[in-house]
Amino acid sequence: MIINIDKIRSMFPALDRPEAFLDNPGGTQIVRTSLERINGYYMKCNANHGGSFITSQLSDALVDEARLAAADFLNARSPDEIIFGANMTTLTFSMSRAIGRILKAGDTIVLTRLDHDANISPWLMLAEDRGLNVRFVDFNPEDGTLNLKEMQAALADKPALLAVGYSSNALGTINPVKQIIQGAHAAGALVYVDAVQFAPHGLIDVQDIDCDFLVCSAYKFFGPHMGVLYGRQELLEKLEAYKVRPAPVHAPGKFETGTGNFEHMAGVLGALEYFEWLGNTYGDPFKADLSKRYSGRRLTLKLGMEVIRKDEETISLALLKGLKNINRLTLYGLKDESRLGERVPTYSFTLDSMSPASAAEKLGKQGIFLWNGNFYALEISRRLGLEDKGGLIRVGAAHYNSMEEINRFLTAVADLA
Ligand SMILES: Cc1ncc(COP(=O)(O)O)c(C=O)c1O
Repeated sequence: MIINIDKIRSMFPALDRPEAFLDNPGGTQIVRTSLERINGYYMKCNANHGGSFITSQLSDALVDEARLAAADFLNARSPDEIIFGANMTTLTFSMSRAIGRILKAGDTIVLTRLDHDANISPWLMLAEDRGLNVRFVDFNPEDGTLNLKEMQAALADKPALLAVGYSSNALGTINPVKQIIQGAHAAGALVYVDAVQFAPHGLIDVQDIDCDFLVCSAYKFFGPHMGVLYGRQELLEKLEAYKVRPAPVHAPGKFETGTGNFEHMAGVLGALEYFEWLGNTYGDPFKADLSKRYSGRRLTLKLGMEVIRKDEETISLALLKGLKNINRLTLYGLKDESRLGERVPTYSFTLDSMSPASAAEKLGKQGIFLWNGNFYALEISRRLGLEDKGGLIRVGAAHYNSMEEINRFLTAVADLA
């Protein structure tokens, strides 16, 4: 292992208990640097924005710093392309309304069955409101990969918008988003990417993948409950926001309705500072190579994410091998060990011996925390024929999980199976 697991875990106060937190795709534990930023906000600069007094000025400066860090995290061209909001779902409902104003009745939007419902329902409801056609792209149920032939066919219809996930919250698949976006743009579609499940596992580059919108959620990457949306600046300027009249007329302010959750914006900054700490502390082995392509904070963040990727590779392989070895267990998604790079360490399965709810309850009592159900990946659960059977059991690792926890989980599941 490239990291010192005890040192890593000591950065997460909530991990100071004996249970195994394998519920990470549902939400990660918060890192100390983020907590400190949130506390610091309340203790030193709690005020509304835009005032001509010191606490308000300190608050505004901290929000600017957080926005700049988030822009670096996603490689936005400017902090003005970063919009903070309650969470991914709320941001998507709000942004889809604004996007809807530039679509016309009869336009087609393309969605995928591999997506979380937060990147489906807002668009379905928009389609209803605006008279749009909806086309779904399926995934391959055998391996949980997106059906790229269907995607190509859907794009050939010249849709106005494609909403696609970066990584599946149920099956762990990482979609080839750059290639998909290229195809979508060639067809003239705007692309809205849900990166909630990819953000904790790899460094996003909105300029490289060339998306128009991308959204993620800080509580999935060791920060507080707060959504972060990237939008291409010219689009953000062009879109009309649903806002009150005295609010700013330009992005990002026009999309950040009401009084901001400034303390959690500071908390996002603290979570990103943790990635930087990881890069500075454990990133040396990757430095020679990565410093050819990255510099400044992007380099440090990339080093941090590379540390995470390397660590998760070991954990993910152990989970995959272990789950494949358990009889009377059906594992869904990519199972090919040589394709670990195409998935995040999130695995979903069912047991012949009991329902997902019973398994999660029994594991919970044994101190193993994980989720059961459809995790709002409703289309996946339906497509796999599991929606009426209680869905799936989902285990999702983070770099702070120890191999001892993984082995404990595998032994417990084998017993249940
Ligand atoms: C892939 C994906 N998209 C969207 C969401 C919704 O995010 P939020 O809770 O920030 O609204 C989740 C939450 O689990 C998710 O996993």
